[in-house]
Amino acid sequence: MSKTINLADLRRMKAQQEKIVCLTAYDASFARLFSQNGIELLLIGDSLGNVIQGHDTVVPVNVADILYHTRIVVRGNTGSYLMADLPFMAYTNETMAIANAKKLMQAGAHCIKLEVKTQHLTVVKALADAGVPVCVHIGLSAQVVHQQGGYKIQGRSKIAAEQLLNDAIAFEQAGACLCLIECVPAALAKTITTSLNIPTIGIGAGVDCDGQILVSYDILGIDCGFKPKFVSNFLEDLPKASIKDAVIAYRQAVKKQFFPAPVHCFAD
Ligand code: KIV
Repeated sequence: MSKTINLADLRRMKAQQEKIVCLTAYDASFARLFSQNGIELLLIGDSLGNVIQGHDTVVPVNVADILYHTRIVVRGNTGSYLMADLPFMAYTNETMAIANAKKLMQAGAHCIKLEVKTQHLTVVKALADAGVPVCVHIGLSAQVVHQQGGYKIQGRSKIAAEQLLNDAIAFEQAGACLCLIECVPAALAKTITTSLNIPTIGIGAGVDCDGQILVSYDILGIDCGFKPKFVSNFLEDLPKASIKDAVIAYRQAVKKQFFPAPVHCFAD
C-alpha cells in the first residue's frame, strides 16, 4: 500500500460502500504480505493466545504479549491501519485502560480494541477523551468464555438484540471510532451497521457489515481442530495456490461481497 490507511479512509469507505478488508496479524512477515496485498486493517488480536501460543482460550494473554506482537507487526506493515487488542483484565477501570492503551499506541498501534458490555461505557469514554481511537468489540466475547459458558451466538432474542443495538449507539456516542461485531445474526448486524455513523467490521455477522475480518490462520486452513461456521479456507479452493493467492482471493471475495456467503452466517 502506498500510504498508510487512516480513520478518515475507513469512514470514506463506509460512506462509499466499499468493503473494508481486515485480517489478524501477529508477525512482521505476514503483516508485510497482508499490507502489500491490500488488506486495509490488521488486528494484533488476543487470538494469538490460541494460534501462536497454543492455549485453549484467550484468557492467558497479557498486555506484554500484545505489545511484543504489535512491535513486530509494525516493522512489517507497509500501510495498513493497525489495531491492537486490550486483553483479558487489561481494562477493568479507566486508569488501567488508559495506561495499557498508551503502551500499545506508543508501540505503533493506530487504534485499540476492547471487548465491551454496557458496563464498559465509562472506560470507552475515558479512552476516547484521552485521545485513543477505540474500536468496541460487541457480540461474542472470547475473553469471558468461562462466564458465558462457551462460544455462543449473541443477540438472538428480541431483548438481547435491542440491548446490543442500544449499546452500539451508546458506544459511538461515547467516542468509539469503529465497531467490531462478532457472531450475531446477520439481520441484527445490518441494523447496527445502518444505525451507526462509524464503520462496522463483522466476523460471523453477515455480509452487510462495512468490513470483514477473519483470523489469518483460518483463511489458510490452519485451525486448532475446530472450524467455526463463519470461517472459509481460501487456500484449499485454489489449485496450486500460494499464501499470497489466498490473501488476494479473500480480499476479492470481501470486496465483491461473495464472502461471507449465507452458509457462513447466522439467522435470527
Ligand atoms: O483477537 C481476535 O483475533 C479477534 C477476532 C476474533 C476478531 O478479536
